[in-house]
Amino acid sequence: MSFLGNIIMRHMKDLNGLHFIFRKLNMGDKINKIYSEQTRNGHDYVGLYFFSRKAFLPLDPQLIKDILGKDFQYFSDRGIYYDEVNDPLSAHLFSIAGSKWKNLRAKLTPAYSPVKLKGMFDIILNCGQQMLDVLCEKSETTKDVEIKEILARYSTDVIGCCAFGLDCNTLKEPEAEFRRMGRRAFTQTIGDVVKMIVIRSFPPLAKLLGIGVFPKNVTNFFRTVVNDTISFREKFNIERPDFMQLLIELKNNGPEPGTALTIDEAAAQAFIFFLAGFETTSTTTSFALFELARDQIIQKKAREEAFRIMTKHQGKITYDSLMELKYLDMIVNETLRKYPPAPVFLRKCTKRYSIMETGKFIEEGQSVLIPCLGLHRDPKYFPNPELFDPDRFSDENKGKVIDGTYIPFGAGPRNCIGMRFAMIQAKIALILCILNFEFSLSTRTKLPLKMETKGIILTPIGGLWIEFKRRKPSNT
Ligand code: HEM
Repeated sequence: MSFLGNIIMRHMKDLNGLHFIFRKLNMGDKINKIYSEQTRNGHDYVGLYFFSRKAFLPLDPQLIKDILGKDFQYFSDRGIYYDEVNDPLSAHLFSIAGSKWKNLRAKLTPAYSPVKLKGMFDIILNCGQQMLDVLCEKSETTKDVEIKEILARYSTDVIGCCAFGLDCNTLKEPEAEFRRMGRRAFTQTIGDVVKMIVIRSFPPLAKLLGIGVFPKNVTNFFRTVVNDTISFREKFNIERPDFMQLLIELKNNGPEPGTALTIDEAAAQAFIFFLAGFETTSTTTSFALFELARDQIIQKKAREEAFRIMTKHQGKITYDSLMELKYLDMIVNETLRKYPPAPVFLRKCTKRYSIMETGKFIEEGQSVLIPCLGLHRDPKYFPNPELFDPDRFSDENKGKVIDGTYIPFGAGPRNCIGMRFAMIQAKIALILCILNFEFSLSTRTKLPLKMETKGIILTPIGGLWIEFKRRKPSNT
């Protein structure tokens, strides 16, 4: 094998793309298995086949850090298919490449700054209050609640409000169109599978045939929503402190002549907010609640902190009071370690790269798989990795985390742009639950948790069922 010299070239059958497409394998678990085997064998990296193409799996944290950060110029793209003409929503920040990505990233970054997030805080909190209302009602009428579904609706409402400027009301009306379209965007029919095969195997043919990544009705729905919202706001001169406002500004005045966004480009950026933010944030919050429900000591400690900080802030949940909740931050960080929503993520090598003075190369065009879950569950870096222990991220301990081993949001210039937004959204939901309920695991939650074999995001089979008991509002 010429590729990567003598690097082990195996797992060809294991990582066959069809397994993923037909959902026989959970990609995170599979890569994790390879990670564990190969690090045990002392390798710093391995070669493998991914969707029938050669790919590279770095295992050493320093190499991973270099690929994502110092040597970013060799790995600035993800190699994800998009087609601006036939499927404008596919040309979003996550998929686009090269200078187009660089310019757009620079334009969108201000939308996620702490100042802008502070402005959006009350919108998110309002969605949190609606989630709380639903949970209060459920806690009185049912024994237990499947929290993933409630948090998915909360997430949909937050994104609907902040990215699309809409009140989607999926907490009040679970079958609202926004939620239905969201669900459709995340489910795969046989037709979608066939399209995927053509897209992955023959990208130019897919473009020629105008095969889109997303179903037409989903694309049309989100394009229409953005179009209508923009027209409405412009007609009535409405300004709101949300992401849509920034997109409107970028549509009307690009920073330089010729750089303004088109409506479709704006719609694609709102859409990726939905695609990248919806499931990642709701699963993180669900897993955090699951771990708190399982461990009453951690839950109590989180509640004590919450009451202490809220008392200091006259009982108000604000951006500043949320930032002071250190133990809650440790809980979310530990949740992201144990259950990183993106267990593997991608880079594409854009020019031949010499690997750590070994005389071996990653060739231009090869995919690079970053084994986030593997690192996070490696006992070498996180002793007793199955244990949920927020203290790993205490002030005293966090400095001991080795660089490049904890990467739930990726790293380097192409890391997650929505990281701060996600943390705020998750913490608002958690603090509302911690302050208002005592909760424990329902016997309906199947332990040990088994993850769905489909998709990329870690999703527990059978859901996460929790029993919520209303608390008296003012004491710990
Ligand atoms: C807990 C929640 C989230 C997690 C764990 C997460 C994780 C990630 C990861 C691992 C990446 C790839 C990073 C890399 O390649 O280095 C990424 C990229 C991205 N995420 Fe997130 N994400 C979350 C929430 C969000 C939210 C709420 C948004 C909303 C805007 C978002 C938008 C994006 C975008 C646009 C990218 C692509 C950035 C680029 O290519 O420039 N994510 N995310």
